[in-house]
Order: sequence, then C-alpha cells, then structure tokens
Amino acid sequence: MKYSTKTGTLAKLPTGALVAGLQTARQVARALKQGALLEAATIDFTDNVGQTLIVRFPKSLSIKRIVVVGGADAEQSETQFRKMTSAAVATLKSVPTPNAIWTLTATKVRNRDSYWKAASALFELSTAIYEFNEHKSRDQVNNKLTLRILHMHAPARSRASVQRAVKFAQALKSGLDLARDLGNQPANVCNPTYLLSEARKLGRLPKMRVTALDEKRMRELGMGAFLAVSQASRTPGKMIIVNYKGGKPKDAPFLLIGKGITFDTGGISLKTPAAMDEMKFDMCGAATVLGATRAVAEAKLPINLVTILAAAENMPGGNATRPGDIVRTYSGQTVEILNTDAEGRLVLCDALSYAERFKPRVIIDVATLTGACVVALGSFASAVFSNNDGLANELLEAGEWTGDRAWRLPLWEEYQASLHSNFADVANVAGRDGSAIKAACFLSRFTKNPAWAHMDIAGSAYHGGAKKGATGRPVALLFRYLAQQV
Ligand code: BES
Ligand code: MN
Ligand code: ZN
Repeated sequence: MKYSTKTGTLAKLPTGALVAGLQTARQVARALKQGALLEAATIDFTDNVGQTLIVRFPKSLSIKRIVVVGGADAEQSETQFRKMTSAAVATLKSVPTPNAIWTLTATKVRNRDSYWKAASALFELSTAIYEFNEHKSRDQVNNKLTLRILHMHAPARSRASVQRAVKFAQALKSGLDLARDLGNQPANVCNPTYLLSEARKLGRLPKMRVTALDEKRMRELGMGAFLAVSQASRTPGKMIIVNYKGGKPKDAPFLLIGKGITFDTGGISLKTPAAMDEMKFDMCGAATVLGATRAVAEAKLPINLVTILAAAENMPGGNATRPGDIVRTYSGQTVEILNTDAEGRLVLCDALSYAERFKPRVIIDVATLTGACVVALGSFASAVFSNNDGLANELLEAGEWTGDRAWRLPLWEEYQASLHSNFADVANVAGRDGSAIKAACFLSRFTKNPAWAHMDIAGSAYHGGAKKGATGRPVALLFRYLAQQV
C-alpha cells in the first residue's frame, strides 16, 4: 500500500472512493450534478462520529463513490478524531477500489495541525489493513482489500506539511509491518538465527551495517548472564548490532536495545501451559526496535542510531541454568539466578553494559519484561522507567502524539534493596510486589548512561484472545521520538 498527496479541486479528481465529511460530499455531489442523489442517500444519516455511509455514483462519472464520514465537519477532540478516522478506515477497507482520496485532514482538531491529522489517519490505516497470512493456505485467506494507493488531499497552503506526514507515515508503516511480522512468526521459524538474517536484510538499506556476536565471542567477552539464558537451546543466542549512520560521523548515536527471547518457556523455572504459546511474542522488544530502525532508515533521518537485539531462546534442558546458579555478567557484577524465568533482564544487562562502547547520547531498552507490568497498566499503556526526566517526558510526549501511549513508573532507590542476594552481588528476582519496578531496578545497575530509559511492553506489544497478534507497539512512539531529535 502506497500513500501520497494530492491537491486540486475535489470534484475534478478521479477516484474510486472519496472519503469526506457531509458538507464536502454535498459540494462535490452538486458539482457533479448528483446533489439529489446524495440528499436522498443521506436522509437518515445523523452525522455522528463513528457513523459512515457509502454513496455510489453513476458508473459514467470519474468519482465512483463517496464514503461519507460522520462528525468530520465539526471540531473534534483527538480521541473523537481517532474514532472518526477508524470508522472511516473500517468502511474504506470493504470498498472494492484500488485507490481513494482522503479529505479528513480538513476536520478541525484542537491543538493539532494538518501534519498530525494526516500522520495519525495513515497510522490508523496501516494498523487496520495489516494481516499475517504467511502460514495459511490460499483458500483459508479471505482478504478483500483491493486498495493499493491512498491519496491525502491537501489544500495548497498545507501541502508541504501533508507531504511530510505522508513520508513519515510510509516509513512508519514499513517499520510497523516488519515488527508485526517478526512478532507473529512462530518460534520454530523466528529463532535468533532468523532474527539475524532479517536484520541482515535491513542492512541492505543505505548507511546500514549489521554485525553480530555469536556465543563463542560472548564467552570470550564474559557475557555470563546472556549465556545462562541461551545455553540450553539448540539454536544459539546472538547479540545482533545494527548500525545506521545517517548523521555526522562524530554525532553520538541514539541506542536502542530490544529483548529478543524468541521463545520463553521459563527454563527450569518452567511456565504453566495456559497461553504459553504467547511466549513467542517475547521477542517483541527486538522486533519493535528493529522496526523503528527500519522506519528511521527509510525516512533517512539525519541521526546516528545503534540498535542491539539480545536474541536467545529460553529453554530447559540437561545443560540449562538451575535456580541458584551464579554467573558473572559482562559488567563484572555477579548475579544469583533465583528464577530462570526472569531471563529478560539477564540478556538485557549484558547488552546494556556492551552498549557503553558506542558512547551513546541516549539508551532506550524495550522489553516484554514482566507480567506485573500487565497487571499494573493493562494493554493501553507501555511502561516507561528512566533516570532522566527530560528523556522520560519526551518519550511520553511522543506516545501522546502518536496515540501509542506510555505511562511512567518510579525507579526509586528504595526498591533496590529487595534484589539483595546472600551469595552474589545481586539476585535476578525479588518478591512479587512491584516486580515491574524491581526488574527496572535490576537493569539500572548495568548502565551508567545519564540518559537511559527502559520500556516494559509486556501489556502493549501484542493482543491475546480473538485478536491474538503483535501490535507493533511502540514503533510509532520510538520513531516519533527519534524524528523529533533532528
Ligand atoms: N516474558 C515474561 C514476562 C511476560 C509475562 C510477558 C506475561 C508477557 C506476558 C518474563 O520473562 C517473565 O517470565 N517474567 C516473570 C518474572 C518473575 C519470574 C520475576 C514474570 O513476570 O512473572
Ligand atoms: Mn520469563
Ligand atoms: Zn521473558
């Protein structure tokens, strides 16, 4: 699906579907001498947000139909605008047309400009049309989507900003699609080797370089925490490093780290069977930082960005880590592994210490780290933890702007004591209460960077139940944050 911009008089622009509010629909219909047809078709249309109506025009006309969207002529709040947009998108999906023109950037939204309106509509569309059918037989797929290109209509004065939004949204879509595809792949396909080959594909984009540390190299470097997680799997762990140089050679890079547990059985601290299949999504941190990296590279953002994927499979086995085992991390600190199911922090701590060699200006790690985060925030917000108020606020703001929202949780000193171990420098788990915070506290011991944030996406990264699937969150938040830095 391609997104583009169009300016000019609406009645003169041929299209399979014009998506418009009632007033615009009336004007266009009158210009095409179809005023009476439109009035008759919209008699029962109450013009509320959430309501839509398809009005079909005679075949001979170059505008085939209008998708009339309720509420588009009134000023709307952000929430109402999103609701209106998603109703329009849902209707548009079912229309048998290869192209459409979208005019809802004309709707007034408090405190938001046409750049935001265009970008958020296209974000909504990207989410609505996504499907993952790679492993279904052809006759099992009933995807009726025919739309190939969506034109954002822009009045001459906002043309430039709508064009920028279209570029932003196109890059974002491509990052989201990658993140969702990787997330949805089952663990017998998506293992650390597969993540590396997908990263290498991305490495073909300009200014990208991909390298990886294998287990042998990690052993030489002393990454005992990472290896304690990956050692029982038949597919060896990989620390994958994607380096994008869009900025000046001397600019300090932004650094993203993603938890890439391609399947989390819990290890010897084995998980219970209910919904265990969903632990294929335990690499969504890695998928989303890689997705954000793809968006950055496709948008050609003039920044330097290093992305590290800590990719491993957490399995039980004859050589698996036992509860009580003590390992030495890359930082030199020792960890008593009291629970092998708290594996995310073990692969991440070595990645965090390794990140320092890039002298990054900012480090953000993203992980499906704790069940406690799901209990605390549910699925609507990702959690943000940070040692830096400025960074935390920028991430929250990027979340508000995109609707890919996040909420800050504390990282106070008081929580640290619970990680005490009688036998090592630190334990990998503490009591159940506040365990999303305690996990963040564990990670904080492995970075000295003054601008570090940790995002726990255990609740937001994927849906369970009937809508089971990866959401691609927080690709939009990360991409917006990085786009704002230039
Ligand atoms: N991957 C899980 C966290 C998770 C749980 C994500 C549910 C999504 C849904 C993580 O590795 C884990 O098992 N965490 C444990 C930590 C505990 C042993 C301290 C948890 O949250 O129960
Ligand atoms: Mn686990
Ligand atoms: Zn996990």
